[in-house]
Amino acid sequence: MLRAPFPTATRAVGPVSSSLHAAPRPAATRRAGALSGRLRPPGDKSISHRAFIFGLLCVGETPIEGLLEGDDVLRTGAACRALGAAIERRGPGLWTVRGAGLGSLLAPADALDFGNAGTGSRLMMGVVGGHPITARFDGDASLRKRPMRRILDPLELMGARVLEQGEGGRCPILLAGAAEPAPIAYETPVASAQIKSAVLLAGLNSPGRTVVMEKEASRDHTEKMLAHFGAAVSVEPWGDSGRRIALEGRPQLRPAPVVVPADPSSAAFALVAALITPGSDIVVEGVMTNPLRSGLLTTLIEMGADITLLDRRIEGGEEVADLRVRAGGLTGVDVPAARAPSMIDEYPVLAVAAAFAQGETRMRGLHELRVKESDRLAAVAAGLAAAGVAARIEGDDLVVQGGDGEARGGGLVATHLDHRIAMSFLVMGMASRQPMRVDDETMIATSYPSFRDDFSRLGAEFS
Ligand code: S3P
Repeated sequence: MLRAPFPTATRAVGPVSSSLHAAPRPAATRRAGALSGRLRPPGDKSISHRAFIFGLLCVGETPIEGLLEGDDVLRTGAACRALGAAIERRGPGLWTVRGAGLGSLLAPADALDFGNAGTGSRLMMGVVGGHPITARFDGDASLRKRPMRRILDPLELMGARVLEQGEGGRCPILLAGAAEPAPIAYETPVASAQIKSAVLLAGLNSPGRTVVMEKEASRDHTEKMLAHFGAAVSVEPWGDSGRRIALEGRPQLRPAPVVVPADPSSAAFALVAALITPGSDIVVEGVMTNPLRSGLLTTLIEMGADITLLDRRIEGGEEVADLRVRAGGLTGVDVPAARAPSMIDEYPVLAVAAAFAQGETRMRGLHELRVKESDRLAAVAAGLAAAGVAARIEGDDLVVQGGDGEARGGGLVATHLDHRIAMSFLVMGMASRQPMRVDDETMIATSYPSFRDDFSRLGAEFS
């Protein structure tokens, strides 16, 4: 058995201190010819966070296969350990969680440091909010800027109390959970799986039925995993394109194996890299094609991308496929706002694809991009401008003028501690006429630790 569960930075659950505060490390990519070969992206980040959390909430051992061993997820693991779980790494991607059990969590001795991880911190606020324990939540400079009121508001309705908070309800936050969380019926103010999940996780320890309504369906991993671990949960259509999720509180959760498919949000970088780099032909293996995560695939295919879904199958309860991608022929499209929840993390790299397309691409309704790891709308527009691409923000829309298969490149991009900004512009540099530089690549380890290795194997050149 390997006994090295968390890197040093992750084991530290005291005040903010982590590898993410290490010196920034600039990076660059340059055009080096066609990409070829096969690649398996890392495990899905959303499912990996939830695997640790559901493991914590069961009594008994939950085995996990294919876990994303990125900094964000490992911090959720460290938080679960602080709340009473015993977590072991048994091999690459193979972990077990021996849970403390719903209703029996420990109060953590130190602050929970989530680093860069919005999902981990928000979901764990739901867990703590539904238990009679108090925990301090904190993270890096990016996490400290992110809105947490959207989570704290419903948790307060359930009886949790916010004892301390940063300006505007931001981290650091001292949260006292409810001994007996009130069952509520809650309509999320924005389509957010994080809000939905926090309410459902708090509702797990409620004596009644918790209901969440969302106007637009967001990723459904929490609902699926609730059912997988034995909770009574029902999902119904709600309104034109929304859902209503009802959960009976205090279920007997049973440990269940979790098999984590490859993350479509990480696969996105390889898809776009191959599409914009002339002559490329690659296969991206085992990618989750859950329809609530597939907006980018839909959009790229609408743009004329040559992507074939091979060997469609079910793995770990999710639809997956191997994606064969060949370069060329993208045309600008109008991406409807309603598609945003199914591709919310993929807009930065879609904007890079759009820069190489023929004609204009308009991406509508991107207000939520302003509150991700950075203000992604501003960061993408600035990065494109640095690369000589004509792009503008109009209200909540991003409009990118394509270069008909070409982009100048050559800029230095400010990444603002945002892994997806760093990876998107490094992908751009694989195909642009001049190299692309980013001011920091260290935070790529939050979601895609093998990014450089994977892309180098396909033929990309970094410096
Ligand atoms: C996530 C939900 C999304 C997404 C994030 C992961 C999740 O956030 O951006 O990277 O795992 O629930 P929102 O639900 O806030 O849009």
